[in-house]
Amino acid sequence: MKNIIALCPGSFDPVTYGHLDIITRSAGMFSKVIVVVAGNASKHCSFTPEERVEMIKKCVADLDNVEVDHYGGLLADYAAQKGATAIIKGLRAMSDFEYEFQMALTNKKLNPNVETLFLTTSAQNMYLSSSMVKQIASMDGDISSFVPDVIKQDIIDRIKGNK
Ligand code: PNS
Repeated sequence: MKNIIALCPGSFDPVTYGHLDIITRSAGMFSKVIVVVAGNASKHCSFTPEERVEMIKKCVADLDNVEVDHYGGLLADYAAQKGATAIIKGLRAMSDFEYEFQMALTNKKLNPNVETLFLTTSAQNMYLSSSMVKQIASMDGDISSFVPDVIKQDIIDRIKGNK
C-alpha cells in the first residue's frame, strides 16, 4: 500500500495513546499519513483545532511521513484536495461500528476515489477515549497511561482551568 496518501481523521480532543497507535501503524503502511483534526458537530471540544494540531505534532515528531493539519469542511473534499485515497479509522468495539460504517459509506458517496479502512484497536486501548481522559484529569486522576508526557500538562491545565 505504498504510494498511497492516507488520512487519519478525528476530533482528537485530545489525542490519546489509542489514536497514536492507529497513526503509528498507518505510518508503517502508507507512504504519507495526514492526521486531520476535523469538525464533529455533535461534540463540544475543549481544545481549539490549532491546539489539537499542536498537541498531535508534539506526539508524532519522530514519524517522518506523518503530517498534521485541521480542516473545517467535508473530509471527502479534503481527501480530494490532498490526493488521499484512504481514510484510516480505529475500531474499538461494536458500539463504534454503526457510526463508523455510516461515515465510511457517506464518504464513499461523496468521494468515490477514497476507501475507508478499519484497524482494530490494540487490546490495551479498547476502553480508552478522549472524554474519559478529560474526566479523569478533571478529578485529579493520573492520565499518564492514556496520553504521552509531552501533552499531559497541556491537558491538565485546560481541564483544571489553569490556561
Ligand atoms: O473522533 P471522531 O469524533 O469520531 O471523528 C469524527 C470525524 C471528525 C472524523 C467526522 O465527524 C468527520 O469526518 N468530520 C468532518 C466533516 C465531514 O466530512 N462530515 C461527514 C462525515 S460522514
